[in-house]
Amino acid sequence: MANLSTTYMGLNLRNPLIVASSGLTENIDDIVEFEARGAGAVVIKSIFEEEIIAKAHDNLNKMQASGFIYPETMEYFDYDSMEDPISNYLDFLRKVKRETSIPIFASINCVTSEGWIDFAKRIEDTGVDGLELNVFSLPSDPDRSAEENERIYFEIAERVTSVVKLPVAMKVGYFNGALANFLVRLSSTPIKALVLFNRFYNPDFDVNTLEFTPASVFSTPSEISTSLRWVAIMSGRVSCDIAASTGVHDGNAMVKQILAGANAVQACSTFYRNGKEQASFIIRQFEEWMNSNGYKTIDEFRGKMSQKKTYNPAAFERVQFMKYFHDL
Ligand SMILES: Cc1cc2nc3c(=O)[nH]c(=O)nc-3n(C[C@H](O)[C@H](O)[C@H](O)COP(=O)(O)O)c2cc1C
Repeated sequence: MANLSTTYMGLNLRNPLIVASSGLTENIDDIVEFEARGAGAVVIKSIFEEEIIAKAHDNLNKMQASGFIYPETMEYFDYDSMEDPISNYLDFLRKVKRETSIPIFASINCVTSEGWIDFAKRIEDTGVDGLELNVFSLPSDPDRSAEENERIYFEIAERVTSVVKLPVAMKVGYFNGALANFLVRLSSTPIKALVLFNRFYNPDFDVNTLEFTPASVFSTPSEISTSLRWVAIMSGRVSCDIAASTGVHDGNAMVKQILAGANAVQACSTFYRNGKEQASFIIRQFEEWMNSNGYKTIDEFRGKMSQKKTYNPAAFERVQFMKYFHDL
């Protein structure tokens, strides 16, 4: 019988399926159900950096002055009516740890390395198994260079890992000019994993009312392709683990990402669309594929289709584009 276990960030997961951070991981009953349906691990809904530093107005002013945080962001949070988000978050992590036995990751959505770093230590003290940092930095400022944009990731990685022993993952986007080079350098910091990729909130607008609307919040299965390409390219090149994220909707998608070289996958939209029972379906389909292909362990096939190991490394590059579109 196939052994589905995998290691991720030095932790043993019973299978590679991680429930990604979302509204489905901020409620204890949902998390307990995901565990019952077989999930390998869960990333808790993120706490925002702005919530952590809400009371420290000096820090807030500094951050706004730095240009990384818009004043409008602060208007979004109603601090006066809000319960203390920090103790709520820490209490919730303790509760989740008490009521589950799979690895649990806390998550911070951040954009600077100022004012909130010590909070990572308090997260560590709750007993969670790891910390994921969702760095939401869109390179949208034409006055800020690529180096300046990148620096923030390195500052956050270095500063957080200097205050905690917890394994730390960084969830990043793909908006970067020299992506492979950036990811290799980031993986050389003390972080233990890269999550490829964050799916940004995308704006859209109505052509009649000219009102802004969110583009689809949920991914489709075809959106796996960007992550799949980059997991395959980076596998064996980065010095940390990789979790594949975006567009994993079924067991075949999990197989693909492990073949590309991921240690684990994260999924979210598929649970919104198909219910939490989709977790058991993904794992079952994955196991059936291993059995029908004669694999006893994941290590026997992990990375087999990565760019470094595949028989056709050009499949991930421009030459494929030329061949394909030339013949159409
Ligand atoms: C409703 C919703 C809420 C989310 N909240 C968070 C969050 O708090 N922190 C985070 O890192 N990602 C968040 N995400 C992003 C997911 O964790 C995931 O990276 C993204 O949806 C791509 O994966 P998918 O294609 O499996 O949905 C959220 C996604 C959705 C749909």
